[in-house]
Amino acid sequence: MTNADCRDVPVSYPDPAAIRALDRLHEDSLAFQGDPVAGIDEVLREHPDFVLAHCFKAGLLTQTMEVRAYRPMLVSVEAAERLARQANDRERGHIAALRAWVDGNFFGAVQHWEAVLTRHPHDLLALQLVHLTDVLLGDTPGQRDCVARVFPLWSEGLPGHEFVLGFYAFGLEENNHFSHAEELGRRAVAMRPRHPYAIHAVAHVLEMMGRQSGGIWWMRSRADDWTGSNFANHLWWHLALFHLDLMQVDRVLEIHDRHLHSDTPSGDKYEELDAAALLWRLKLLDIDVGARWRDLADKWEPNATDTLYAFNDVHAMMTFVADGRTEAAERLLNANERYVAHAGDANVAMSRIIGLPFCRALQAFGKGDYGRCVDLLLPVRYRTHRLGGSFAQRDIIGWTLLEAALRAGRFALALALANERCALKPTSPQNWRMVARAHAGLGQRDHAERAEARATSLLAA
Ligand SMILES: [Fe+2]
Repeated sequence: MTNADCRDVPVSYPDPAAIRALDRLHEDSLAFQGDPVAGIDEVLREHPDFVLAHCFKAGLLTQTMEVRAYRPMLVSVEAAERLARQANDRERGHIAALRAWVDGNFFGAVQHWEAVLTRHPHDLLALQLVHLTDVLLGDTPGQRDCVARVFPLWSEGLPGHEFVLGFYAFGLEENNHFSHAEELGRRAVAMRPRHPYAIHAVAHVLEMMGRQSGGIWWMRSRADDWTGSNFANHLWWHLALFHLDLMQVDRVLEIHDRHLHSDTPSGDKYEELDAAALLWRLKLLDIDVGARWRDLADKWEPNATDTLYAFNDVHAMMTFVADGRTEAAERLLNANERYVAHAGDANVAMSRIIGLPFCRALQAFGKGDYGRCVDLLLPVRYRTHRLGGSFAQRDIIGWTLLEAALRAGRFALALALANERCALKPTSPQNWRMVARAHAGLGQRDHAERAEARATSLLAA
């Protein structure tokens, strides 16, 4: 008899109870709850030959993008490889994907997982890893299309259908299909209220459409469903963005201090990314955040020379620049320059194309050399998706560019960039303020007053 998971996808391991345990831990990982890695370690203690369990653990660890996760990930991949002879075709596909990943071939890993998914469209682990890796790598169409390829083959009765909806909602949102994304995201949340990823997908729709008040209501009214999850940091960050656009700085700082400022020095990198991304936006608004940068830079400094993931490096750079740590900033730049010259993994292209130019631009911004910051960012602004993450996260690059143009006195360029932001999000008071500043710089007082009035009326509304 062939064993299978709860979606009837074949599993080679002969113990049904162990497979059920893996099903439950997989569900936890999809719902961002509990500690699935610790849970699978427990299963593996009793079932060391459970090859899919090793693949599951290594697969989850690929998503951490932290140096400290590399060793346990490699150990799991090697354990799975030793068991490959008893693995089935699906599991061998997972093993090949994970081998590609630990060898630095992240795009190759996606190809292997996609091949598994083509043969087994209900392999939710493969779908999860393809979709989330596409987010990490900045493959925007891939985030949507990996779900589109299997979506018609899923029915509502199949366990985990709501997670497929959540992935699809986010993939659609990142490709600007906002109404379809919102519909699927809300449907997923209706099926499972404690579904942080689907809540997040809807938050992204509201962010991109500039529906700040609706976003605040959406997040706060569902707080009981996401604040206890493993995705809570990032969802707090989203809530803070809505408040920031409405210039509610006290609320932003309160969220930072309560939820993005843990005391553990080797805390969650995702928390530190979001904290840096939030504080840098406040810096662009010239808001003094006191000692917060120092605390955050202390957490980033041990990772200054990791060169593991360009997305991490640019956020580390923000903290070093903002806290005046010139030596750490130089170490990060030197490590990246060496890495780009000599390494061969998939992150090199991300670092070369956007990571390193943005780090240099941040350094120039910190030195007050705003013209150089503009010159570094202008040529790469339409390639920023290669950094990974979401449009909302990468918006920090365009915002930095515009603020630098304003501070450099390049007001015609600043106006062009501010007009562009307003066209994309006309309900953003911040965007109209930037239009007003650019007009003021050009000596166009009437236009400046009109834009400022628009910002004021949006804030009043
Ligand atoms: Fe997000």
